[in-house]
Amino acid sequence: MKKVLVTGANRGIGKQISLDLLALGCKVYAGARDIAKLKEAFPEKSDLLYFIEIDVTDESTVEKAASKISALDVVINNAGVGVGETDLAEANLEEVKRIFEVNFFGPMLVNKHFIPHLKNSADGIKVNSMCPGWVKSDMGGAGAPRTVQQGADTAVVLATSSNI
Ligand SMILES: NC(=O)c1ccc[n+]([C@@H]2O[C@H](COP(=O)([O-])OP(=O)(O)OC[C@H]3O[C@@H](n4cnc5c(N)ncnc54)[C@H](OP(=O)(O)O)[C@@H]3O)[C@@H](O)[C@H]2O)c1
Repeated sequence: MKKVLVTGANRGIGKQISLDLLALGCKVYAGARDIAKLKEAFPEKSDLLYFIEIDVTDESTVEKAASKISALDVVINNAGVGVGETDLAEANLEEVKRIFEVNFFGPMLVNKHFIPHLKNSADGIKVNSMCPGWVKSDMGGAGAPRTVQQGADTAVVLATSSNI
C-alpha cells in the first residue's frame, strides 16, 4: 500500500487525486491549510485518510506536518495559485512574489522536509513533473475543457506506478 501526501487536497484536482488514491487502497495524507475545509471536502470517514495541516508558504506548518508522518512513498505537490496574464508593465510585483512563494518555494519547502521520509520507500526517490492541462476547477474556471477527474488522472498514474 503506497503512502501518499497530497498538498492542496481540500478542493479541485488535489481533492480528486486524494479520492482516486483512496479508492485504489493508498494511505492518503490530505494536506490543506485549513483542516475545517478538509473535513467538509471528505465527509465520509476512511481508515486510509489522514488530515494534515500544511500551508506551503509557512515552514512551521510544513515542519510540524513532517514530524507527524514517519514514512512516505510519494509527495504530490499539488497546492498552487493561479498566475493570470498581466503585462509586465502592469504587473504588481508583490503579487508576483506571492505566486512564487506558493508555486515555486512551496514545493521546495515541502520537499525539504519530506525527503527524509521518502528515503526508505521501496521505489527510492524519483521526481516526476506533470501538467493537468486546463481544468474546470476554481482556478481553471468553467470554460476549461478538461474535468477535474481528467486533471487528476496523470498524477494518480505517476503516484501508483513503480516503473515510471
Ligand atoms: N486548473 C487548471 O487549469 C490548472 C492548469 C495548470 C496547472 N494547474 C495546477 O494544478 C494544481 C491544482 O490546481 P486546481 O485547479 O485544483 O486549483 P484550485 O481549485 O484553485 O485549488 C488550489 C488548491 O491549492 C491550495 N493552496 C493554495 N495556496 C496554498 C498554500 N499556501 N498552502 C497550501 N495549499 C494552498 C488551495 O487551498 P485553499 O482552499 O486553502 O485556498 C486549494 O486546495 C495547482 O498547482 C495548479 O497550478 C491547474
